[in-house]
Amino acid sequence: MSDYRSRRGERRRKRRIDDMSRGHFPGRQRAEREISIEIDEDDQETRRSVFSPRWFKRLGPKERYLVFATFIAMIITASWISYDRHAAETEVTADRFNETQVSLGKSLYIANCAFCHGDNLEGKPGWDGRYPTGRRPALPLDGETAITRLSDQDLMDVTKYGGQPFSPADYENDMPGFEMQLSDADIWAIVAFIKSRWSDDAIERQREAQEKLNQ
Ligand code: HEC
Repeated sequence: MSDYRSRRGERRRKRRIDDMSRGHFPGRQRAEREISIEIDEDDQETRRSVFSPRWFKRLGPKERYLVFATFIAMIITASWISYDRHAAETEVTADRFNETQVSLGKSLYIANCAFCHGDNLEGKPGWDGRYPTGRRPALPLDGETAITRLSDQDLMDVTKYGGQPFSPADYENDMPGFEMQLSDADIWAIVAFIKSRWSDDAIERQREAQEKLNQ
């Protein structure tokens, strides 16, 4: 009996050693199977958490509704803002009360015009004089000077094509044209910004000047 047992044990031990020499370790397959199951579960966990994260599952129905409503409100606000921006970018008139157009115009003014015309549209120091060359410095655009003789369309045209086409042939105008850098809608936005800085009196002076021209 004991002989039989020890022989059986001997055979088993030999088989195990054989297996190990061929790369089969006892218990390894089971361990591998378990690991792969764990990996699968991890995978499912991450997949699940993308669509309904754990924190969302912990919320009550009221709170879930709030989260949802906030999300929808954010989408509506974002599309409304982008629609507004788009409208300002295709605008063909200057509206000094249109906040979106004015704010677009302000950033474009700071980037393109402030260098010569000043941060506050005040013009270059000594703007009412002349350089020894006979040319003029950048004029104020704040509505307190002769700028109000120009219509919105004039402001648009001078900015787009520069001052030279609108000057006598023997006069050299240093106002550059922005046709290459800015779209029409950009320039309308700048005009809207400039006029948003004008006083009511200045707006009135501009209107009167155009009336006189049309008589
Ligand atoms: C390089 C400097 C310079 C830059 C940049 C510049 N300007 Fe001028 N601008 C001038 C000068 C100089 C004049 C005056 C020209 C003259 O009358 O001889 C002028 C004149 C003007 C006038 C006419 C004013 C009037 O009363 O006749 C307008 C309008 C104007 N600029 C708008 C703009 C706008 C808008 C921008 C930005 C998009 C801009 N300018 C950028 C130099 C500049």
